[in-house]
Amino acid sequence: MRSSLVKYPDISLVPTMGNLHEGHLSLVRRARERPGIVVASVFVNPLQFAPHEDFATYPRTLERDFELLAGGDCDLVFAPSAREMYPEEQSVKVHPAKALGDMLEGAVRPGFFIGVCTVVLKLFNIVRPNTAVFGKKDYQQLRVIQNMVRQFSLPIEIIEAETIRGADGLALSSRNGYLSASERNEAVQLPLVLRQVAGEVQSGHDNWAQVERNAADVLRARGWQPDYVAIRERSALRMPAAGQSLVVLGAARLGTTRLIDSLEI
Ligand code: PAF
Repeated sequence: MRSSLVKYPDISLVPTMGNLHEGHLSLVRRARERPGIVVASVFVNPLQFAPHEDFATYPRTLERDFELLAGGDCDLVFAPSAREMYPEEQSVKVHPAKALGDMLEGAVRPGFFIGVCTVVLKLFNIVRPNTAVFGKKDYQQLRVIQNMVRQFSLPIEIIEAETIRGADGLALSSRNGYLSASERNEAVQLPLVLRQVAGEVQSGHDNWAQVERNAADVLRARGWQPDYVAIRERSALRMPAAGQSLVVLGAARLGTTRLIDSLEI
């Protein structure tokens, strides 16, 4: 009798909430660089939206998402219903490290990272990927997930993918679709302000708190409602010290649309 060892193929997962654009497709291409199967998940996760947020109106374009994925580098789409993902009340949830998860996005959107970590852990357990790809646009989310993977010793490598921008520099985001034509023109000010901050830091400006305040003021003067512009060290987003690798993160509301962006300095 011969015994055989079954070798399962490697799996790379690209978790998304659908309404796919070139940013998502670039994540799929990063996943394709790995050997094995590429799985994209499409699931608008109710757990990461506060009651006043845009869960109900979040764009759902599943048929088009399937077409985009079928024409590209994806082998399999996992698009569960809410009932499939949460067949019973999700009473056990992942609470990210407070130091990382309660600031910036976590301070403005309490519970957001609990919802993100919980669904991502569930996706990991269902799809069983060897690698998963997350974009740097959601920089804090990327760090929160890397921290969860480390803390729970999950056997998954997290791949960091660069932000994809439009020709004018605006980071691609499903929420850009909420912008009116004039807001879309204005939206480029967010990456411009972040670039300005990066330039000031690089040119030796050492009062970083002042640089952050000035950047938020510029946005405010143009009619934005900034939540934060923050210069942080890159690995755990702590307050930075001289000599560390830095990132500037920004989030601001333009009309009723909240945009976030980040730039490594
Ligand atoms: O970044 C997103 O699209 C979502 O937060 C994610 C990671 C798919 C979890 O729902």
